[in-house]
Amino acid sequence: MSEFAGKTLFVSGGTSGINLAVAQHFAGCGARVFVISRDPGRVAAAVQSLRDLGAEADGMPADVRQYDQVAAAVTRCAELFGQIDILVSGAAGNFLAKAQNISSNGFRAVMEIDVLGTHHVMHAAFSHLRKPGASILNISAPQGSVAMVGQAHVCAAKSGIDMMTRALALEWGPLGIRVNSVSPGPIEGTEGQKRLVPNPAAVEERVNAIPLKRMGTLADVAELCAFLASDRANYITGAVIPVDGGTTLNPTPTRMGQFLED
Ligand code: HXC
Ligand code: NAP
Repeated sequence: MSEFAGKTLFVSGGTSGINLAVAQHFAGCGARVFVISRDPGRVAAAVQSLRDLGAEADGMPADVRQYDQVAAAVTRCAELFGQIDILVSGAAGNFLAKAQNISSNGFRAVMEIDVLGTHHVMHAAFSHLRKPGASILNISAPQGSVAMVGQAHVCAAKSGIDMMTRALALEWGPLGIRVNSVSPGPIEGTEGQKRLVPNPAAVEERVNAIPLKRMGTLADVAELCAFLASDRANYITGAVIPVDGGTTLNPTPTRMGQFLED
């Protein structure tokens, strides 16, 4: 497939899990791909996996909390590939803890990675994205719209991201830039799920609560991202789109942190 031939994708947090799978999907569809995250070893491995798919790919270590690092990575990507057409903001932090057990530093860490980091990548990439056909995909979560026990910091962060999606769709729509949030439900085999459903009883309850009765796959998320970034979705902006098997329709996930001590 070559749907994204000639396009360049920049992915923050694109070195593992869902974001890497999205990067690999676009690479398989002909895109040039640039990934960033903090760990240099992960960056190198991710870049190699993208090149193994036949893609032009590169990356560099960068912490999305540090604007200068993000801006340097965006500049490097544009120098190498000449342009940026699609931005995926996927870097995130999460742990399960009740609000009274989240320190100021813990709350700040998640807000800075998720919310400030998303602002940083969108701001740094803006001059390259400022053209008709550009697309931004912010990776959100059900926490952006559904309250969950043990997730006060993540609910604050992901709902903040979803409102940035809407605000920038409003501001940047006239420039031709579409901005959407992709909101995956529980995706099997990911770091996020290891952290949130850490034992078999929790996994069983989680799956039972999903209307489609299964965890999502990496491919489920990648397919939605590819659709939203394509011309097939060129009248969709400012949307928060779940790919969650109906997870957000069922209130049971609010009990996710039920095993936590007070
Ligand atoms: C309470 C915790 C904690 C926990 C860390 N902290 N884990 N507090 N319960 N389980 C606190 C620490 O004590 C510290 O506060 C503060 O958080 C910052 O921790 P550091 O380790 O110093 O910070 P840092 O190295 O910046 O790491 C950030 C992190 C870490 C978020 C804490 O886990 C991380 O790097 N995560 C990235 C990977 C990740 O989370 N992947 C999953 C994304 S999935 P003090 O006060 O002690 O200094 C996801 C799923 C969403 O988002 C939805 C699924 C449905
Ligand atoms: P993951 O594998 O831990 O992915 C997180 C990525 O972000 C890693 O590549 C990590 O790499 C990077 N990262 C973290 N902090 C960073 C920082 N400060 N600067 C730059 N990069 C940073 O987790 P995942 O489960 O696949 O989740 C990926 C995305 O999907 C997240 O946005 C998450 O909220 C969302 N999501 C996940 C699920 C799920 O079921 N897993 C459900 C809904 C939404 P480094 O450690 O190298 O920095």
